[in-house]
Amino acid sequence: MNKEEAASRIATLSKELEQHNYSYYVSNAPTISDYEFDQLLKELEKLEKDYPEFAFENSPTKRVGGDITKNFESVQHEYPMLSLSNTYSEEEIVDWENRVHKLAPGQPTYVCELKYDGVAIGIRYEGGVLKQAVTRGDGTKGEAVTANVRTIRTIPLKLKGNFPHKFEIRGEIFFPLDHFNALNEKRAENGDELYANPRNTASGTLKLQDSAIVAERKLDCYLYGVYGEKIGAESHSQAVKMAGDWGFKIPNASKKMIRQCQSIDEIMDFIHYWDEERKNLPFEIDGIVIKVDDYRTQDELGFTSKSPRWAIAYKFKAEQVQTKLNEVTYQVGRTGAITPVANLTPVLLAGTTVKRASLHNADQIEKLDLHEGDTVYVEKGGEIIPKIVGVNQSLREPSSSVIAFIKLCSECETELVRKEGEAQHYCPNANGCPPQIKGRIEHFISRKAMDIDGLGPETIDLLFQEGLIHNYADLYSLTFDQIVSLERMADKSANNAIASIKASKEIPFESILFALGIRYVGETVAKKLARHFKQIDALIDANFDTLIGVDEIGEKIAISIQQFFLEEENRELVERLKQAGLRFEIEEAENSSDLLQAKTFVISGVFEKVSRKALKDLIELNGGKNIGSISKKTDYLVAGANMGPAKLEKANKLEVQIISEDQFLAMINYEIG
Ligand code: IVH
Repeated sequence: MNKEEAASRIATLSKELEQHNYSYYVSNAPTISDYEFDQLLKELEKLEKDYPEFAFENSPTKRVGGDITKNFESVQHEYPMLSLSNTYSEEEIVDWENRVHKLAPGQPTYVCELKYDGVAIGIRYEGGVLKQAVTRGDGTKGEAVTANVRTIRTIPLKLKGNFPHKFEIRGEIFFPLDHFNALNEKRAENGDELYANPRNTASGTLKLQDSAIVAERKLDCYLYGVYGEKIGAESHSQAVKMAGDWGFKIPNASKKMIRQCQSIDEIMDFIHYWDEERKNLPFEIDGIVIKVDDYRTQDELGFTSKSPRWAIAYKFKAEQVQTKLNEVTYQVGRTGAITPVANLTPVLLAGTTVKRASLHNADQIEKLDLHEGDTVYVEKGGEIIPKIVGVNQSLREPSSSVIAFIKLCSECETELVRKEGEAQHYCPNANGCPPQIKGRIEHFISRKAMDIDGLGPETIDLLFQEGLIHNYADLYSLTFDQIVSLERMADKSANNAIASIKASKEIPFESILFALGIRYVGETVAKKLARHFKQIDALIDANFDTLIGVDEIGEKIAISIQQFFLEEENRELVERLKQAGLRFEIEEAENSSDLLQAKTFVISGVFEKVSRKALKDLIELNGGKNIGSISKKTDYLVAGANMGPAKLEKANKLEVQIISEDQFLAMINYEIG
C-alpha cells in the first residue's frame, strides 16, 4: 500500500467505524457484528501506527483511549455554566409555572426532561469535529477533559447532517448502573474498597489521567442544551431534535423521556410518572427538569445571578424508611479490614427487602451517634448497599447505651489496629485469622487470578475446616482422595478440582502476581510489575527506589510490596509455588532486552519508522521508562520531526542528551522489517 492509498483507507475506515459506532451505541441497532467491528478497528489501528501523519484527531481509535493527560488545562466557559433552581415541593412547581405564565405572553409550552444524575460537560464542535470538552468547574472555568470524553461512545467525534459550523453542546455524563455495579463487583473480587455511588465515580473517572481506563468504564451521556450563535433552532425541543440528527444521543420521546407540555397538569403527570418509573431506568436520575420551550420567551424571562428563570428542577426525595437496629456485627475482609454491619429488622425499601446496611467504619458509627436498639432511617440512594442516614431520637430508650466499636477481632480476638490517617480498623493476625486466610485463598483461585474454577468458596471453607489447607500453596499438594473425602463431594467434582488446580500452573506471571494478594497490587499494577521485572526474584530483590521508578507505582504500593516480601511466610509461599511448577517469569517477548535498564526517555515530535506508541512500547520492552516532560533526571530526548522549540531549548539547558529516531533504534539493535 502506498501513502496515498493508506491515507484514503484511513479516511474510509474512520468514517465507516464512526457510523457503526453510532448505529450500535446511539441507535441501538448494530449494523455489523462485534467481530467485524473489531477487525476494522484493528486494521485502522495498524494503518495509523504505520502512517501516523494521516490519523485523525478524532479517529475512532480514540474511543479505546490511550492518551494520557498529566494536567487538565483550565478553560474559561464561553457561556457560564449555571445551575438550576430546584425544589422538592410540587407546590413550588405550581408557583413557578404561574409566574412564568404571568410574565410570558399567551400559554407557554414547556419541555419536561429527566434530570440525569451525573457530571455536567460542555463540548465544543467546530466544522463538525469535536474540539474540546470541559467540565463545569466553578461555572466560569472548568477543566478540559477532552481525551477522556472522546472515549464515550455515545458522544460523536464527527457530526452528521446539517450542523452549525461552531457551537457548544452541554449534557450530563453518567455511569450506567450495570457498568457501575460490574466495576464494584470487580473491585470486591480484588479486595479493593467499593465506590460509593455512580455519580461520584463518574466524576472521578472523568478526571483520570489515563483515558484507556476511562474507556473501560463505559460512561454514557445525554445532551440537554445547544449553545451558539447560528444554531438554526427556535426552541429547545427543536434544538434537541436537531442534535439528534447531528448524531447525538438524545432522550427518547417514545419512551416518555422528554415531553412537550401545555399545562401544569401535564407537567405533574410527567413528574409522577417518573417518580415511579425511575426505578426501572438503567441509570440514575435525581429529578425532572422543566424548561420553557421557546427561545424568545426564554430570553424574555432571563436569568437570576445563579440560574435561568425559564427552567426549574423538581427533585425526587430519596426513598426512606424507618426500622430497628438489632445488632452491629463485624466482617473481616481478606486484607484484615473490619467492616461494621448493621443488622436490621427486615423492611421493604424501593422494591427490595433490606436486612443489613454497611456502616463503613468507626467514624460513621460515631457520627450517627448510634445506640443499641435505635430506630434508624434507611435510604437507598445511588449506592447498591442501603445506608443508615440518621436515628429517630424520639424512639430511643433513655437507658440504651452507645455502640462502641470492637477492640478485638470478632473472628480471632486479636487486638485491632488503626493506622494514623486511615478510617478502617484492621486485624493484624493475617496468618491466623480464618476469614483472612480463606479470603486470600478465595482471591487466589478467583477468575482474574489463578482461575481455578473447579473449586469454590464452599469447598475452600470445607478444606480449611478439615485442616487440609492453611494457605494457597497447600492447594498444590491436595490429592484426589483428600478432596473426595469432603462432605457431598462427588468423584466428578473432585476430578474437576484436581484438573483445574493443575491447569492453573500455566497461568501467566502477571496473574500469579495479582493472585498473591499483595495489598494495592490489583490487576493493572500486577501487569506493570510483571512487565518491568519479568521474574519474581527481581521483584523480591527490588529496593524502594527501583519500585517507585516503575511506571504508575507510587510509594504506597512500593511499601506494600516490600512489606509483603519481607515476611518469611510469604517468601516461603512463593518458594513452594515455584516448586509446584507455577510460572514466575514472563516469556521473553520479541524485541525485549535490558539495554535501556533504568534509563528515562522523553519522546517528542513525529517519527518516520515507528509510531509514537510503538516507540514508547520499545522503550519499556527494553527496560527503559517513558516520562512526560523533561527534567534534570531525563537521560534522553528522542527527537522527531516538528518537535516544539521549547522542548529543545529545555533539553539543551538541562544538558539532556538529544537523539534521533535512528540513534534510538540503534541503541536497542532494532531492525525495521
Ligand atoms: S439544563 C442553566 N437539563 O443539573 C442550566 N440540566 O443544577 C441548564 N442536569 O448543571 C441546565 N439533567 O448538570 C439541564 N435535563 C437536564 C439536566 C440538567 C441534569 C444537571 C446539569 C446542571 C444541573 C443543574
